[in-house]
Amino acid sequence: MVRSTSPRLAPRPYAPGDGNFLLLDRASERPPTYGLHQATNIHHHAMKVDKASRAAANGQKPCVLWFTGLSGAGKSTVADLVEQRLQALGKRTMLLDGDNVRHGLNRDLGFSDEDRVENIRRIGEVSKLMVEAGLITLVSFISPFRSERRMARELLDEGEFFEIFVDAPLEVCEARDPKGLYKKARAGELPNFTGIGSRYEPPQAPELRLPADRLGAEALAERVIELLRQHAVL
Ligand code: ADX
Repeated sequence: MVRSTSPRLAPRPYAPGDGNFLLLDRASERPPTYGLHQATNIHHHAMKVDKASRAAANGQKPCVLWFTGLSGAGKSTVADLVEQRLQALGKRTMLLDGDNVRHGLNRDLGFSDEDRVENIRRIGEVSKLMVEAGLITLVSFISPFRSERRMARELLDEGEFFEIFVDAPLEVCEARDPKGLYKKARAGELPNFTGIGSRYEPPQAPELRLPADRLGAEALAERVIELLRQHAVL
């Protein structure tokens, strides 16, 4: 390990007053009400290569398969199987999974309501980009709130968003407890755990509801493939 001997570069503990400042609007002498972090003066540039031509180049109908459900319901297992089936059929795909994306793009986010909203907002936008890239995009996130799932749907065109409710009751997910997180939550070690300390709002009109407590992952994946056949994605 290389250590700096320069006093200028040596780490120094945070001191009160470091980096704290308050911006005031010059006229009102009050904090500004406009979003300082929001870009202005940006324009949409219409490119010659667009969503339709990328879809045609890939020879497929791009869409989002949005898997929602409690932790332990089986979202990622089913999504993984569906993606394998799609690849075997020669389709171009991408899978976004909560546990994985939270190690990278969304590693700055936790599990407060606010952070989950931001988590899903970003994934909605990334899914839209993936569809614009011409990919069949599988999204596996708890995505507990209806409003954010609706927001993700509204970013896409009609017929491009399939909400798939991986439905297993809390008791079943808790009995499975594949990561031991329900146990931790019951012990008070995970205060915001979905289904215990944080709410899950089940979809009211999903394109598909998978009875994940009754059928195995292979059979559930088959139902998703059927759905795609019905909608001429396959
Ligand atoms: S979401 O609610 O914001 O959509 P996301 O799908 O990204 O959640 O992440 C869920 C995964 O994070 C779970 O599968 C679990 O492994 C892990 N996790 C860690 N803490 C929590 C928590 N408090 N609530 C739910 N999942 C959690």
